[in-house]
Amino acid sequence: MNHQTLPRHIGIIMDGNGRWAQQRGLPRTEGHKAGVEAFERICEYAADLGVPVLTFYAFSTENWVRPPQEVGAIMDLFRRQLNSTERRQAENEQKRWRIRYIGDLREDGAVPADILARLRNMETQSADKDKTVVNIAVNYGGQQEILSAAQRLARLCCEGVLVPEELTLQNIEDGLTTAGQPPPDLIIRPSGELRLSNFLLWQSAYAELWFSNILWPDFAPAHLDQALAAYARRNRRFGSSNARQATP
Ligand code: FPP
Repeated sequence: MNHQTLPRHIGIIMDGNGRWAQQRGLPRTEGHKAGVEAFERICEYAADLGVPVLTFYAFSTENWVRPPQEVGAIMDLFRRQLNSTERRQAENEQKRWRIRYIGDLREDGAVPADILARLRNMETQSADKDKTVVNIAVNYGGQQEILSAAQRLARLCCEGVLVPEELTLQNIEDGLTTAGQPPPDLIIRPSGELRLSNFLLWQSAYAELWFSNILWPDFAPAHLDQALAAYARRNRRFGSSNARQATP
């Protein structure tokens, strides 16, 4: 894969953990555990390929309605994942990964305070790294993100800093959690579902979508290769009548 056809940003909806576990007669939490392993595998592989930005959808604003026991188990998996990332601090520094968490991460919000503090700490520690940005979406919703950007602009208009008629698309983008990053060129959703489920709604306006029946815990580097090969064959027009190369 040459750099002309490598996406600048890949978004991944990690779906199918529950079904993976069910198929094996295991509790759903075992599927999430295996999902974390797939996350580590694919993150490593995509970063080694040289993809500059990766966004993984780990927990949505809607996922809180799941049974408390399952939500609790996913929160514990976040804690374990943070433990293992902290243990590999030196390795991470060498890899030059910048870890970012996107979503509604307000102090008085739904994410447990101990997790929030550690997410923030992880972001600070890796803030100066520049090879690969890894965004992990936690308590994330695309509609909520757009609403929050709109509220920020409304405040600035009320304060007289901005004028409603002069607002631009860039003003909205500046208020998104991915401000300053390229939009996703490719969005991958495994598990057979054909929808975005509130993931990067604004940013994915011109993203290429790749769906597969594979369940997330089974997702292997070979599947990412398939998605990248499909992406490289796409004609991207961005509204014009001329086909452009995959990555602008
Ligand atoms: C979707 O599968 C998965 C989730 C809602 C949770 C995803 C969480 C992880 C992969 C672990 C946390 C990740 C990190 C980065 C630490 P599902 O339960 O909806 O599966 P189903 O559709 O088969 O029921």
